[in-house]
Amino acid sequence: MKISVIGCGYLGAVHAVAMVELGHHVVGIDVDAAKIAQLTEGRPPFFEPGLPEILSSALATGRLRFSTDIAEVAGSRVHFVAVGTPQRDGSNAADMTYVDSAIDALLPHLAPGDIVVGKSTVPVGSATRLAGVLEASGTGAVLAWNPEFLREGFAVLDTMSPDRLVYGVASGDDTAVVALNEVYATAIAAGTPVVVTDYATAELVKVAANAFLATKISFINAMAEIAEVTGADVTQLADAIGYDSRIGRRFLNAGVGFGGGCLPKDIRAFTARAEELGRGESVAFLKEVDQINLRRRQRVVDLTVDALGSVVNEKKVAVLGLAFKPHSDDVRDSPALDVAVKLRGLGANVIATDPQAIENSRARHPQISYSADIAETLRDADAVVLVTEWPEFAGIDPVWAAGLVRNRTIIDGRNKLDAAAWRAAGWTYLGLGRP
Ligand code: UDX
Repeated sequence: MKISVIGCGYLGAVHAVAMVELGHHVVGIDVDAAKIAQLTEGRPPFFEPGLPEILSSALATGRLRFSTDIAEVAGSRVHFVAVGTPQRDGSNAADMTYVDSAIDALLPHLAPGDIVVGKSTVPVGSATRLAGVLEASGTGAVLAWNPEFLREGFAVLDTMSPDRLVYGVASGDDTAVVALNEVYATAIAAGTPVVVTDYATAELVKVAANAFLATKISFINAMAEIAEVTGADVTQLADAIGYDSRIGRRFLNAGVGFGGGCLPKDIRAFTARAEELGRGESVAFLKEVDQINLRRRQRVVDLTVDALGSVVNEKKVAVLGLAFKPHSDDVRDSPALDVAVKLRGLGANVIATDPQAIENSRARHPQISYSADIAETLRDADAVVLVTEWPEFAGIDPVWAAGLVRNRTIIDGRNKLDAAAWRAAGWTYLGLGRP
C-alpha cells in the first residue's frame, strides 16, 4: 500500500520506517528541511535504539523517501498525521496548531477514498471537528483516529508489535477499517488485538492510558512519602503489592518521578479539556498526580542540600543522568535535568553526565557543566545524585567510585543501586522512600 506520514518527529519518523518494514511504500513529510535531509541520509535526528539500522534497511528497499513537499502525498491511500501537540504556552491545554495546519496542507492533495489517520494525542472532540473539516472540503477523503502508544527507547518494537490497535472511525465507515487492517496486516496476523470504536473513545483511550500510568507512578511515590516518615521501604512495599495480579509490579518504581514528552503534558491537557467540558471534578485527582510527581524532584534536591550540610555554594555535585529515562536522549520535562538545574540555581557547582542526552541538555541549560566521562564527573564530588537509571550508572563499582569523590554520599533518585554494597564501600546511601 502507498502511505504518507505527515510529521517526521519522534512518532512520525519511527512510524514511517515501521510501515516500510510491514511491506508498504512510504513518503515521510516534514516542514523541517534539516530533519528531512538527515532522514534521507539514514541518520535519525534523535537517539532511539534500533532505529538507525531499520532506517537504513528501509531506505535500501527503495520504498521509503522523505520530502518537505506535501504535494508528494498524492497517490497515497492512507495519510498518517503524526505531528506534535505540545503544551500550549501559558496554559495546560494541548496546542492543536500543528495538527490543524497539517490537515489544511493535506486537503488540496486528497482524492476520494483516501483515509486521513490521526495519530497525534489530541483533546477529545478534535477528531469529530477535523472530520467536519474533511467533509466540508468535498475531497471525498474520510478520517480515522488511530492513537499511538509507543514508548521511547522501545519505539521500534512497540510500533512493529503493539499491545493493541485502536481505530476510531465514523459510524458505519468500513472503508477506514478495511484500509487500516491492510496497513497493519502483519501485526494483526501475529495476534495483535484490534478495538474498533468511535472517535471520542479512540481519543480517550490514549489519554486514559497515560493518565493511568502516571497515576500508578504517583501512587507509589505517595507511598514513598509515607515510607519516609515511618521508616518503611517502598521498594519492598511495591514488590509485595505487585505480587497481587490485579495490581502488577510494572510502573511501581518509586523515585524522582515521571517526565518526557507525553505523561506530564498529557495529564495536564486532559485536565484542561475535562474542565472545558464541565467535568473538571472527574479528573481533579490528576492535579494531585502532577503535584506528587513534582514534589519528588524537590525531595531529591532537599536530600542533596542536607547531605551538603546546607551550604551548597561552590560544592561540587555530580549528577548521573539527564534524559527523562534510560535509552533516550529526550530531556523534555526531564526530572533529572530539572534536579540538576535546581541545584545549580542554589549555587552548587553541578557537573552532569549522560550517555546520550548531554547535547540536548547543554542547548537548554548552558549554565551546567557536562562531561561524557563518569570518572571525571565523580572526581572530587561532595555529593553524587543518580537521577536516570542507565545501566552504565547502575553498574558503577562503589569501591572504585569511593576513590574518586571528596565525600561519599550518594542520593539514589531511582532506587536502582544495591544499598548494602554502597554502604559496605563506606558510602552514605540515601534512597527515596527507603530507610
Ligand atoms: C509513555 C507511555 O508509556 C506510552 O505508552 C505513550 O505512548 C507515551 O508516554 P514514554 O514517555 O516513552 O511513554 O515513557 P515511559 O516508559 O512510559 O516512562 C515515563 C516516565 O515515567 C519516565 O520518566 C520514567 O522514568 C517514569 N517511570 C516509569 C517511573 O518513574 N516509575 C515507573 O515505575 C515507570
